[in-house]
Amino acid sequence: MFSMKIIFVLSLALTVVSAGLLGGVSELSGSELKEAEETLNNSLAKLASGDGPNYKLGKIIKATHQVVSGSKYVYDVELIDGSTTKTCNVEIWSQPWLENGIQVTFNCPDGQVVKKHSA
Ligand SMILES: *[C@@H]1O[C@H](CO)[C@@H](O)[C@H](O)[C@H]1NC(C)=O
Repeated sequence: MFSMKIIFVLSLALTVVSAGLLGGVSELSGSELKEAEETLNNSLAKLASGDGPNYKLGKIIKATHQVVSGSKYVYDVELIDGSTTKTCNVEIWSQPWLENGIQVTFNCPDGQVVKKHSA
């Protein structure tokens, strides 16, 4: 009976801790923002050298990071599309242990595009 209680309390504590680690969305700044920018640039470069789209990063307005099954970055960014600049919401969901485990979703004024690439 006593051990059941311990197990219950422990699993409750574990749930609380993992809920804090997973699922928490944090807005990035400083070196974390820099890392997020590198991640985004890397994805843009991979897609541009693959089947597109061909975007360059203008500037990051806001970036957040969340630990899910893998790692998820969400950005509000200005993307340079040839000679025009558009403001998009970009999500990079990274599961680098999978083949083509990096999924990039562009939500731009002209619609949504979902792409995958390798890590
Ligand atoms: C990301 O790419 C943009 C545009 O090419 C560049 O100006 C910027 O310095 C790059 N950022 C990093 C962290 O490499």
